[in-house]
Amino acid sequence: MADVRVNASVSDLTRIERIGAHSHIRGLGLDDALEARAVSQGLVGQTSARKAAGVITQMIKEGKIAGRGVLLAGQPGTGKTAIAMGIAKSLGPETPFAMIAASEIFSMEMSKTEALTQSFRKAIGVRIKEESELIEGEVVEVEIDRPASGQAAKTGKLTMKTSEMETVYDLGVKMIEALQREKVTAGDVVAIDKASGKVTRLGRSFARSRDYDAMGPATKFVQCPEGELQKRRQVVHVVSLHEIDVINSRQQGFLALFAGDTGEIRAEVREQIDGKVAEWREEGKADIVPGVLFIDEVHMLDIECFSFLNRALESDMAPILVVATNRGITKIRGTNYRSPHGIPIDLLDRLLIINTQPYSEREIRRILDIRTEEEDVEVADDAKDLLTKIGVETSLRYAIQLISAASLIAQKRKAAAVGVEDVSRAYTLFLDVQRSVQYLQEYAQEYMYNEAEAAEEEEEEEEEEGMQQ
Ligand SMILES: Nc1ncnc2c1ncn2[C@@H]1O[C@H](COP(=O)(O)OP(=O)(O)OP(=O)(O)O)[C@@H](O)[C@H]1O
Ligand SMILES: [Mg+2]
Repeated sequence: MADVRVNASVSDLTRIERIGAHSHIRGLGLDDALEARAVSQGLVGQTSARKAAGVITQMIKEGKIAGRGVLLAGQPGTGKTAIAMGIAKSLGPETPFAMIAASEIFSMEMSKTEALTQSFRKAIGVRIKEESELIEGEVVEVEIDRPASGQAAKTGKLTMKTSEMETVYDLGVKMIEALQREKVTAGDVVAIDKASGKVTRLGRSFARSRDYDAMGPATKFVQCPEGELQKRRQVVHVVSLHEIDVINSRQQGFLALFAGDTGEIRAEVREQIDGKVAEWREEGKADIVPGVLFIDEVHMLDIECFSFLNRALESDMAPILVVATNRGITKIRGTNYRSPHGIPIDLLDRLLIINTQPYSEREIRRILDIRTEEEDVEVADDAKDLLTKIGVETSLRYAIQLISAASLIAQKRKAAAVGVEDVSRAYTLFLDVQRSVQYLQEYAQEYMYNEAEAAEEEEEEEEEEGMQQ
């Protein structure tokens, strides 16, 4: 059964992959994609963490750490998510990369383990090799007969040649349509896939380079192919196990991939697919490409999810797990036990740990430089100095957010560039956390549900827990 469904859909999938430039990073929202673009512009500082990430990327590419994982640990806003996106970028489109925030698992309309299973399978690629038969040559003549009645189906003949031979093919209705759609005329060099009938124009033959009339400005010239007209070609696609699951799950069909609401997938479907993939692997038709599963805010997972992860990492098709957290020693969700990063020790033991460090003033300045350029905002030098100072004293995130606010304020007074006054105006309009807390403390009595005292007690408790916030 799976044979037809997977093969038929592979071309659909490759089409899907072309839709978004970042769609190889499966499960990304637009914000994340923008973030990924910002990151690709260049990461600043964080040298040792980035070197470590580079080594990991290399190991992933060489297939050396399948079934293991990496933990990115560090204070809020130190670039953990950014580094993970960087890893995704440098892996390239061939390696599947799936990303979720741990809290999403609890909000999906499916069980926790189903959500995790789907994420895992999004991160496991299957490289499918298909042999296809092509007819490749220069078109000598396309002849289409239109019956006088206008009723009967069209028929026609296509004459093609290589430098050594020439053959005439009979054309059916579908082929005629395909040729007309591609506007194939004599002198084009084309490839026709025999199984699907897909016509691809490779260019114009050099022999026709003097027919000026028949070409646009972007015409590409190619040699008339040599040898036989019929050729065998190997085509390689990478699809994720999850995509194969969805395509073969009768309730959904592959359109669900666009909508993203795939629902639960029955265990039998997965078993059947795993069996089929194992068969292909034995026959040499397919390989497994272990990808990367990135779980952000991993401390939000509970103990059941953690044991699921432990178990899933033991499978021979397991992807590489990358997790990130900003928590210190804290309770593991769903238990009363404390553990570093809120992650059970047995899972921690499988993870290589990368630490991110807070940024220095110079690094903050450079990050702000990149961000202003990326957001296309002109900022005067002294205004940048002020932003940097704000970044050092409050947080990098707050400083980054001020950029767009300040730019709107500058636009309003029709200034060409953001100046010191715009930044300080934005700074007074939008509070950072410290000032907001200060404000709350001053006016505590006027707010509803004031629990300042209770909060203080809790704070002490949390300090014991070693929260880094
Ligand atoms: N080295 C860097 N170079 C350029 N931009 C960076 C760098 N590090 C962080 N940023 C930017 O700073 C912001 C915060 O970084 P990020 O979201 O990666 O932090 P985080 O460590 O994931 O924080 P949290 O623990 O709160 O999730 C992002 O907008 C990111 O693009
Ligand atoms: Mg983050």
